[in-house]
Amino acid sequence: MLQFIVDEAKCTRCGQCVCDCPSRIIEQTAGAVPFIRPANEARCIQCQHCLAVCPPAAVSIFGHDPAHSRPLTAGSFPDLEQMLTLVRGRRSVRRYCDENVDPALLQRLLAALANVPSGVNRRALTFSVIDDKTVMRQFRLRALNGLAAAEKAGRVPAQFAYLIPAVPAWFEQGVDMIFRGAPHLLVVSAGPEAVCPEEDVNLALACFDLMAQSAGLGTVWCGMAKMALELLPDLKASMGLQPGHFYYAMLFGLPSFRYARTVQRDAAAHVHRVSA
Ligand SMILES: Cc1cc2nc3c(=O)[nH]c(=O)nc-3n(C[C@H](O)[C@H](O)[C@H](O)COP(=O)(O)O)c2cc1C
Repeated sequence: MLQFIVDEAKCTRCGQCVCDCPSRIIEQTAGAVPFIRPANEARCIQCQHCLAVCPPAAVSIFGHDPAHSRPLTAGSFPDLEQMLTLVRGRRSVRRYCDENVDPALLQRLLAALANVPSGVNRRALTFSVIDDKTVMRQFRLRALNGLAAAEKAGRVPAQFAYLIPAVPAWFEQGVDMIFRGAPHLLVVSAGPEAVCPEEDVNLALACFDLMAQSAGLGTVWCGMAKMALELLPDLKASMGLQPGHFYYAMLFGLPSFRYARTVQRDAAAHVHRVSA
């Protein structure tokens, strides 16, 4: 049951919910409030656009009261200059404070990830997070010990060769080339029920990246962590990752320094203009 309820007193019969429904299952007859036929309910992708678009907040669905949504007015979004500075100024951070991120901030960021787009709004994502630096330290040690043992046994396949310099860096110099000394790790994964698993995972991480950096945190996408997880099945299982699920990893934490300026890469954007 969708619980699609229209408040007849508030509804202006404007038809916005009808026009905006991606599945085209909301109907309306002249002068009447919109409705969904029970036979069409299964086609709802649960996007809540009907609730979001209704100007007088007359539509409720899945038991959600529109009064509990965040109002969107002029100035609710960051402006273009702020977004351009964020996109140009966010950096891959590889030096971190030995401190946990405020759990309340982390909870806000993770909760917001439920709002990122996903193919057919499937939202089949799992957010596996190491939110404690002590747990991360143990995880790092397990990974590096496992990698050293695999290397010694000649069990590091060629596609994971990037990992090999991390062994002497850690054991001889105490430098963490894989996890960059970060106090936290986020791995987003998608199961077979996802329609677009790779896009959904990477998009969620891209959103986390921008949100975290706007909150003053450092982040770095981590293909090396993914390689380590692939090489060491026990480590992968300890992150709660299921065999066959697509996933990717991001390190994050409080940076131990700040970048003073943006880089200058705009000219490197390869734009192909299609003409008639
Ligand atoms: C898919 C992906 C995987 C990455 N893996 C790693 C990694 O394993 N280790 C690392 O230090 N940086 C990693 N990076 C960061 C890139 O090196 C970085 O984005 C690039 O050098 C540009 O720097 P910037 O992010 O500061 O603009 C990765 C980035 C992406 C997008």
